[in-house]
Amino acid sequence: MPSAIVTGATGILGREIVFELSKHAPQWPTIHALSRSKKEDYPSNVIHSHIDLTSSADGMAADLAKVRGEYVFFAAYLQKDSEQENWDVNGAMLSNFLEVLTKTGAIERVKRIILVTGAKQYGVHLGAPKNPMHEDAPWLTGSQWPPNFYYNQQNILHDFCSQHGKEWTVTYPNDVIGFARGNFMNLSTALALYALVEKEMGRGDELVFPGSPAFYTGFDSFTCSKLHARFCAWVALEPRAANEAFNVVNGDVNPEQFAPAEASVSDLAEKPPVEVQADELGLRGHEVTRQSKVEQQVDLVNWSQRDDVKAAWERLADREKLDKSAFEKATWGFLGFVLGRNFDLVISMSKARKYGWTGYQDTWDSFESVFEDLEASGVLPKKS
Ligand SMILES: NC(=O)c1ccc[n+]([C@@H]2O[C@H](COP(=O)([O-])OP(=O)(O)OC[C@H]3O[C@@H](n4cnc5c(N)ncnc54)[C@H](OP(=O)(O)O)[C@@H]3O)[C@@H](O)[C@H]2O)c1
Repeated sequence: MPSAIVTGATGILGREIVFELSKHAPQWPTIHALSRSKKEDYPSNVIHSHIDLTSSADGMAADLAKVRGEYVFFAAYLQKDSEQENWDVNGAMLSNFLEVLTKTGAIERVKRIILVTGAKQYGVHLGAPKNPMHEDAPWLTGSQWPPNFYYNQQNILHDFCSQHGKEWTVTYPNDVIGFARGNFMNLSTALALYALVEKEMGRGDELVFPGSPAFYTGFDSFTCSKLHARFCAWVALEPRAANEAFNVVNGDVNPEQFAPAEASVSDLAEKPPVEVQADELGLRGHEVTRQSKVEQQVDLVNWSQRDDVKAAWERLADREKLDKSAFEKATWGFLGFVLGRNFDLVISMSKARKYGWTGYQDTWDSFESVFEDLEASGVLPKKS
């Protein structure tokens, strides 16, 4: 029976991979969970080890001396302030880790390495992509595009696997609905806290949609972190998925709601990713090829810093005995970006389905399940 090695084990995506594999002990008798911190207790088939992927290869090799496994899931991530730093740091974390696998001899047993990346693959952080997004879309390379650390990580992975005769698989989730403490991209916590604090301030019945009218009336494709974990467990063992990349979204597409008046507007990249294929798609000069924007009717970063908002949170947190740090740690900028985009994101699951994937997750159910996790961890009040 295979063993697994999971990096980023405390993160929003890695944590669920650890728990999903651990539920199937006969199939996965040993799961090595790796991260700098250990935030919770694990089932008996999970062994947590400390690793700092930015430390020296010798130090890491000592930490991982006894770690062996056939399937490696790389879900570690460190957010940096610039795309170049993301490229450098996240690329180095992956290549350091792969080097350590060779140093300790663990690489001998490895069959496949599964790398978790995301829909930034399609430049969704830069503007409108070509919809629906398919895995064979052209990579946005060249001087007109900022560095994309997913390309660096995938190139590192491809080269390493061809040198060592190993298989790889890459996943592209988007706008993840999941639970993890101190996560850099967690829209569910910020969304729930926004609604709660507005209610506390007496505006619960007239909750203003903080994002853009375009997002409200348009479409997004979310990924439930639990569904992504099930996908990873499936794809690791699917022979035909060797050396392939897959979109991983819930499988439904959600229209959102909206209210008037913008509080902030910011421009994304000068040209949106879809512009690259404008001629091929007959879209030259079309509205969607113009510069994309993030329009927030309520600028959530500014909102979260208002005195009345902070006072309402303090009141609510005291009354309900909540984890007070949750508000400050909530990713207001990320939620503002997600809800404020003025373009659609429709991500195709056709490729995975052709390979045999049948998973599906209702997005509203994903949110409910995460809100229950947040209740249980003292971030949200218990439902009365
Ligand atoms: N969250 C989203 O909405 C979303 C959407 C699409 C794609 N993605 C992509 O999914 C991937 C995983 O992101 P995530 O959101 O799951 O990240 P996350 O929740 O921020 O978790 C990051 C993980 O990496 C570990 N880590 C960070 N620095 C480390 C270091 N120096 N050494 C060892 N471990 C380290 C963290 O654990 P410790 O801090 O304990 O070390 C944590 O377990 C990234 O490529 C991200 O871009 C995320």
